[in-house]
Amino acid sequence: MSLYDQAHIRNFYNNYAEQETARWEKSIVEQVKLHIHQHFLHQHVKQGDTIIELGAGTGVFTQLLAQKNADLTVTDLSPIQLKLNKEKAKANGYFQKIKHWEIADVCDLSEFKSNSFDKVVCYGGPLSYVFDQKIKALTEIKRVLKTNGIAFIGVMNLWGTVNEYLNKIILPVPKSDNEKVMRTGNLHPSSFTASDHHCHMFTAEELKNDLQQVGFELIALSASNCLSVSRQKEVEDIKNSREKWEYFLDLELRACQSAGMVESGTHLIAIVRKNEIDASVREK
Ligand SMILES: C[S@@+](CC[C@H](N)C(=O)[O-])C[C@H]1O[C@@H](n2cnc3c(N)ncnc32)[C@H](O)[C@@H]1O
Repeated sequence: MSLYDQAHIRNFYNNYAEQETARWEKSIVEQVKLHIHQHFLHQHVKQGDTIIELGAGTGVFTQLLAQKNADLTVTDLSPIQLKLNKEKAKANGYFQKIKHWEIADVCDLSEFKSNSFDKVVCYGGPLSYVFDQKIKALTEIKRVLKTNGIAFIGVMNLWGTVNEYLNKIILPVPKSDNEKVMRTGNLHPSSFTASDHHCHMFTAEELKNDLQQVGFELIALSASNCLSVSRQKEVEDIKNSREKWEYFLDLELRACQSAGMVESGTHLIAIVRKNEIDASVREK
């Protein structure tokens, strides 16, 4: 039986509602993470691209994509998240720029035609909620992308989560429980009974293998985040000088993409391309 429980995740995000927007604003370190995610969108999204956003939530990235005059379809599993996304678009004056809002599960994009989007944005972990359905979801993402189209994929990261939350993991949780999570990457009642939260935390190796299995070319792999992990005060001090802040953000982006640091943060970001010939076929 699949570990993916669609109703549970939908309910979780229906109840989570506005906390989703607050997530990115709660600290300067979260703002650094936001900068890292936005960096890749600024780097690759072109004015007028045809884009589908999956698991869009309340729309922190929808707003940026609307500013790029994208031909934009916004989707989410949760009707409440989608409703908040619409309200935010109205309140911030970009409602007219969005072509469609649709309820959609990343595992089943059958209402969208094959080869129809220049970009697929799947940030914030929808793939982490689908557990054993992840290859199905990645295959759907690839199917709806045009050839040479690019997908932006964000997932939760195992080692980076330990790195950020070490004191909440080691001291209060028995080793045997921690080990079940470390071995599977799963925060799920089947591996950790104390948690009602469902999510799969990937390792970089695992994500790279999954992307390769589906035949994506990996353009960039990045942590979110790295130098700023657990350094709230230091990052606040740096922000006091514009010049130092800009230099810090540049270093953070470079560190996040260095092979040795890519598992430092709570999330992994993969930027992938759909080529005419699958990367998996070419490497054989
Ligand atoms: C952590 S939020 C991220 C929202 C936004 N993309 C961001 O990064 O700020 C995860 C979103 O993914 C949605 N989601 C979870 N599982 C999904 C699935 N299987 N298919 C589509 N959306 C999903 C949730 O409803 C929620 O809005």
